[in-house]
Amino acid sequence: MGSDGKKISMAVVKRLPKYLRYLGELMEKGEERTSSHELSKLTGFTASQIRQDLNNFGGFGQQGYGYHVSQLQSEIKRILGLNNKYNMIIIGAGNMGQALTNYVGFEKMGFNITALFDINPRLIGLSIRGIEVCDIDELSNYLLENKTDIAIMTVPKSAAQDITNILVQNGVRGIWNFSPIDLKAPDEITVENVHLSESLMTLVYRLNK
Ligand code: NAI
Repeated sequence: MGSDGKKISMAVVKRLPKYLRYLGELMEKGEERTSSHELSKLTGFTASQIRQDLNNFGGFGQQGYGYHVSQLQSEIKRILGLNNKYNMIIIGAGNMGQALTNYVGFEKMGFNITALFDINPRLIGLSIRGIEVCDIDELSNYLLENKTDIAIMTVPKSAAQDITNILVQNGVRGIWNFSPIDLKAPDEITVENVHLSESLMTLVYRLNK
């Protein structure tokens, strides 16, 4: 929601992480204020697009002053829900699951990985960056006892739908899906797909254009 209680369009929401990234860089440099022109140079969006986007959040832009970097950063975090903490589990402790676990950046954003799950006895019981790999058979029990907001799906596609059903039955509302399958889930469940190969295909298309 914007500051006036109006719903923000998904097109704007998709630009917010990029604003946040550059506002973070400005904060690191100790900059207190910025302008739509500076943000335009950084993000590649036009200055008028930026003014329009940021107007959704109420009186941050001031004539002759621009935007207050930390205020704008806090407001965008609030809109994205990044002022809350989220507990996440990873299903599938293979290459992808372990790589995501080893990335410390998620914690800095408020995403706390609490456990991994796998079916392979050689992985069960291991600790990845201090986080335990549990037996997938324990998933339902774990979810009953541990509030979990988001599950990251990094299993082969043959396993992904059955696991999704267990997640949904046990109250997980967000799935970050890396498995190459369109998961079926009720409308109230949010599934965000990440398909790196699709991005790679777009790159190749542009290379060959
Ligand atoms: P991997 O084979 O290294 O890891 C998969 C893990 O899932 C294994 O540890 C396996 O034991 C576990 N697993 C299999 N069945 C299970 C079940 N029923 N319950 C719990 N764990 C189970 O594979 P990798 O490379 O990590 O890829 C994982 C998935 O991510 C694959 O579906 C792959 O296609 C996908 N992937 C997607 C990418 C993307 O951009 N979306 C990029 C790379 C991989």
